[in-house]
Amino acid sequence: MSSLYHTLETRLRQAFDALSPGADPVLRPSERADFQANGALGLAKVLGQSPREVASLVVATLDISDLGEIEIAGPGFINIRVDAAVMGERLRLLLDDERLGSAPREPRRVVIDYSAPNVAKEMHVGHLRSTVIGDCLARVHRFVGDTVIARNHVGDWGTPFGMLIEHLIDLGEADAIASLSVGDLDSFYRAARFKFEGDETFRERSRARVVALQGGDPETRRLWQLLVDQSVAYFSEVYAALDVLLTPQDVVGESSYNDQLEAVVEDLDRQGLLVESHGAQCVFPPGFAGRDGEPQPLIVRKSDEGFGYAATDLAAVRDRVSRLGANEIYYVVGAPQVQHFQMIFAVARLAGWLPDSVHCEHVAFGSVLGPDRKMFKTRSGETIKLSALLEDATDRARTELAQRRPEQSSTEREALARDVARAAIKYADLSTDRQRDYVFDLDRMISAEGDTGPYLQYAHARIRAVFRRAGQEVPRGVTPTIAEPAERALALGILAWPDAVSAALSSSQPHRLCGYLFDLAQRFSTFYEECPVLSAPDDIRDSRLVIIELTARILALGLSLLGIAAPEQM
Ligand code: ARG
Repeated sequence: MSSLYHTLETRLRQAFDALSPGADPVLRPSERADFQANGALGLAKVLGQSPREVASLVVATLDISDLGEIEIAGPGFINIRVDAAVMGERLRLLLDDERLGSAPREPRRVVIDYSAPNVAKEMHVGHLRSTVIGDCLARVHRFVGDTVIARNHVGDWGTPFGMLIEHLIDLGEADAIASLSVGDLDSFYRAARFKFEGDETFRERSRARVVALQGGDPETRRLWQLLVDQSVAYFSEVYAALDVLLTPQDVVGESSYNDQLEAVVEDLDRQGLLVESHGAQCVFPPGFAGRDGEPQPLIVRKSDEGFGYAATDLAAVRDRVSRLGANEIYYVVGAPQVQHFQMIFAVARLAGWLPDSVHCEHVAFGSVLGPDRKMFKTRSGETIKLSALLEDATDRARTELAQRRPEQSSTEREALARDVARAAIKYADLSTDRQRDYVFDLDRMISAEGDTGPYLQYAHARIRAVFRRAGQEVPRGVTPTIAEPAERALALGILAWPDAVSAALSSSQPHRLCGYLFDLAQRFSTFYEECPVLSAPDDIRDSRLVIIELTARILALGLSLLGIAAPEQM
């Protein structure tokens, strides 16, 4: 069954279309009616009639008598009020549907490129965003039935590996591994860089080492692999701490495309797309100009014969379409790389590697800012470690729990504190429009009030507490009665769940899901103030138990799609 909103919208479109093909009415949930349609005003000019006249023409063909009533309001708005019995019936059906009304779609093969930290470097907050947003998108796509192939495009190749390997040799393998496994990747990297900048012989060794690496020298490859393995092990710890679904199997780093790079260049050359410019092999996709207005090249092979970031990404698109059979490809990468991806997609389309039937999108996101509204860094200008953020948040949650729930066992408290901490950090990231920057403010993020992860967890746990107090499960075979305004508002909220999933899916915007859940939790809160549950007469009590059960299930399911746990008790 399609959602209430979707059904109404389809019928409304048909009615408008009959009057003027291509008319674009907008249907919105509304406070006064349940839904309000807008569009008669625009059509009035086209048809040369008053908006109210247009509205009555629409209403004459719009048949929703099975769902509710229509009324024309104000200058030509069409208000729709849904029949309470229709809502009750729909709610009854949802009780047996673990998807809560959101039907799966025709499954698609979806590749999501996310997280992508760099070997021997600390993950910065940008990688945090990519990881958390990508994980949410992966969960949403899986929920609607898609086959999701995660690609962790780890930066594991390129010139810095010369100095990193030489530094590893200087330290000795055992010490190098020890220093990398405490997760102090940045000091390892910095030490290598420091020598590279100050020491000419080290620089020479590093250069020779890059050549050996590219030439496939076995010992060099072994040392390189050590660096990669240590870093991937560290990333996996971060993923586990964050409770994201990425595994080491999803790591398909830049280096894994090495043996396809020649073929990429040959193919471009054969198609006449390759142009030599300043000694480099380039493609000039139409429509890209630099600041000076000159055509902008995508450098596929550098003048030193080396391949770079772009060549690897071209090989990756090709592989994702032809071998993995992707119908959709998403790149969850920061906004500064927008031009890079536009050019990659343009060249891949030109080369015929990316057919029109494949949807390819850069899911760009903004920056995380510190309290001073500048890039979020430590006071000494270093990358903030994710583990430190999580620890801070966990400490806060633990302290708060110790005060509020002194009877709790320490294992219980620890688990809950972690769930709350993750909820705080992930939700803050997911709930802003991803394109925008946001300020990292732990006080706000972890608060149980306002638009926060912990607030949603509380709303869910509050409902579970009602059932614990009632000492019963949700009653079966009950059709809820929708009478009170707060009941109606909550019922409409519940019935809008499928629309929230579709909105998040089609826009790759987790905040659409967050916004919906926050709104639902607020509707619940009002309902709970105005409509007694356990003290109501039996039939009303049962009806309301069904309504709050559905609310709790949607909150838990919605949070799970955000990658956030919904504890039974808080
Ligand atoms: N490793 C890169 C970075 O840290 C991100 C890679 C994103 N994915 C890609 N296919 N280019 O900025």
